[in-house]
Amino acid sequence: MSTFQLDTATSRATPTPQPLRRLTVPAIRERKRDGVTDEPIVCLTAYTARQAQLLDAHCDVLLVGDSLGQVIYGLPSTLPVTLEMMANHAAAVVRGSYHAVVVVDMPFGSYEASPAAAFASASQLLKASGAAAVKLEGGEAMAETVDFLISRGIPVMGHVGLTPQAVNVLGGYGARGRGEAEATKILRDARMLANAGAFAIVVEGVLEPTAIRVTRDVPCPVIGIGASAQCDGQVLVTDDMLGMFERVPRFVKRYDELAERIGTAAAAYAEEVRARRFPAEDHTYQAR
Ligand code: KIV
Repeated sequence: MSTFQLDTATSRATPTPQPLRRLTVPAIRERKRDGVTDEPIVCLTAYTARQAQLLDAHCDVLLVGDSLGQVIYGLPSTLPVTLEMMANHAAAVVRGSYHAVVVVDMPFGSYEASPAAAFASASQLLKASGAAAVKLEGGEAMAETVDFLISRGIPVMGHVGLTPQAVNVLGGYGARGRGEAEATKILRDARMLANAGAFAIVVEGVLEPTAIRVTRDVPCPVIGIGASAQCDGQVLVTDDMLGMFERVPRFVKRYDELAERIGTAAAAYAEEVRARRFPAEDHTYQAR
């Protein structure tokens, strides 16, 4: 256990309460019983130790999403994200948390070829990070892989609807589940993942009636993003809901305007440096 705890001797670490009581994957799965989830599952993305420290107490699940490609690395999509990036950020999030279940995204190209390839990648991610579970995108085509991983000790969260790693096939990031055929396919995908043993399924960017159908139909918790308040839980990209970006998807509610506030703070600092008013005496070392 100590491998993944924070070194509290370093200046900015938050002490980890003892004993360390983390939620478990089965506890998240059990939130939905007989099709009903009394306590919705709260999930946010986290990519760094400090972000995890700040979010952990409020969340049931911290998702180390491959959205870090855009959010942290400024990449144009999630496609270039590597296993190494995911492992490093997941390890930081595990070190910065003690309560939430940490789930790490499997990056594009690391799992699709075969169940064996998926096991090699997923086991590497969990070994390197201490995360509890992986998430992968895709429905029916991934059901065999999901079963393979779970029967070998790796819990899996599914992801259907708008699956950003398939942007080149989908032709963009528009909402899914518009026509009956597409809605039925999403429903079938979710059912197949649930039957294969996924402990929860993210349903992203689908029309609300489709999200509600999936939530009612699938036995495991369905976690919505741009889907419906009727889902068993919700996930958002933290930087989106904090207002770190000018442009966010339409469904995102902004709970703060951090980008603006950071700009204001940086401008105040810059002004004081240029006027030689920083550091003031109370921010310098004085001889005693
Ligand atoms: O990568 C990510 O952050 C995600 C969420 C948006 C569900 O997959």
